[in-house]
Amino acid sequence: MIRTILEIAVVFATASLLYFFGYLTPAFIMVPLVIFLLAQAESYQFNPEGRAVFITGCDSGFGYQLAKRLDKMGFLVFAACQFPERKGACDLVNECSSRLKVIKLDVTKDEDVAQAKKFIQTNLPEKGLWGIVNNAGISDWSETQWNNIEHYHKMADVNLFGSIRTTLPFISLIRASQGRMVFVSSILAFFYAPNMGPYSITKRAVEAFADCLRVEMACFGVKVSIIQPGNFGSVTNILQEKMAEDIWNRFDEEQKQTFNRQYIELVTEYATKLRREGIQDINMVIDAMVDALTSRRPKTRYLVVNMFEKVLFYAFPYWPTFLADAVFSLGDMYQKRKLLLFSPEGN
Ligand SMILES: NC(=O)c1ccc[n+]([C@@H]2O[C@H](COP(=O)([O-])OP(=O)(O)OC[C@H]3O[C@@H](n4cnc5c(N)ncnc54)[C@H](OP(=O)(O)O)[C@@H]3O)[C@@H](O)[C@H]2O)c1
Repeated sequence: MIRTILEIAVVFATASLLYFFGYLTPAFIMVPLVIFLLAQAESYQFNPEGRAVFITGCDSGFGYQLAKRLDKMGFLVFAACQFPERKGACDLVNECSSRLKVIKLDVTKDEDVAQAKKFIQTNLPEKGLWGIVNNAGISDWSETQWNNIEHYHKMADVNLFGSIRTTLPFISLIRASQGRMVFVSSILAFFYAPNMGPYSITKRAVEAFADCLRVEMACFGVKVSIIQPGNFGSVTNILQEKMAEDIWNRFDEEQKQTFNRQYIELVTEYATKLRREGIQDINMVIDAMVDALTSRRPKTRYLVVNMFEKVLFYAFPYWPTFLADAVFSLGDMYQKRKLLLFSPEGN
């Protein structure tokens, strides 16, 4: 609604300016556009009653909060939790309406997904499955060369293949309701920050999957949106604290000679600080998810960052690569790393 009002204001202002400067024909052409937008704005009321939404990763963080919000709005929520016996799932059952159903789901397991589909199909409300929110995810930070292939497999199995695995079996149900599909990505899908390689790869791939799906699903009346949160690490469980000593102890001799121990301590402190400095208002992400599920014209991408970051992140994908790379290489931590590489000091 607010977006439509803003659009009307922009169109109206442009038409007035054109009229003022004597461009009468373009100004009059814009009048039907204003009327069209006004017609669109006419009290669009989404009614969640009788519609179900399936959310993955509801044990904590965004998924947990979204499950609560959608339940309050009147949706029938299928809240998929990895551990239905633990606190997150139990709190959902205790604090939400009896409509909300917790389903056990590890997104890396085909049998869990098959069971979840069976359960959802037999418990669908009259208007069917309206939405699916692919939210479950894991994260970690480490330099590309500190990881082995297992690390990449694990990250991709949850973040990428987990999203695909929980999407494919539900496409026909969403198609039947001409509903919504939401994928939780990250700014790190396009902002290729050092130490976030394995995670970035999975989020960029999820976006490619969602983009292709969106184009294919459009003719069925299904809308696909991508949520790109910035750093909300202080209000969710996504970033587990890591100890410099653990990282160092896992290094082989060559890695120990390349990466100075002092640097490992510095970068660990930096990661902890970054996590603590994250955005506190988790509702910014939940609002974006709700908009993607209920707005008449949901956005294809929701960039959820603070006002200052918006300037940087909207522009970043359009910068020439040398300039974008410079953002990282001029950073304080990058310079310290450069100085300490191959240095025996502090080892
Ligand atoms: N927080 C941020 O700063 C941020 C920024 C950008 C994007 N994101 C994305 O937002 C999404 C939600 O993360 P969050 O920040 O809310 O973190 P979170 O609190 O850790 O929530 C992630 C959820 O995914 C679940 N999960 C992990 N592995 C799973 C698996 N194999 N099968 C099923 N569920 C699994 C977790 O369950 P357990 O609790 O049982 O592990 C948890 O419920 C993720 O996709 C994440 O990448 C987060």
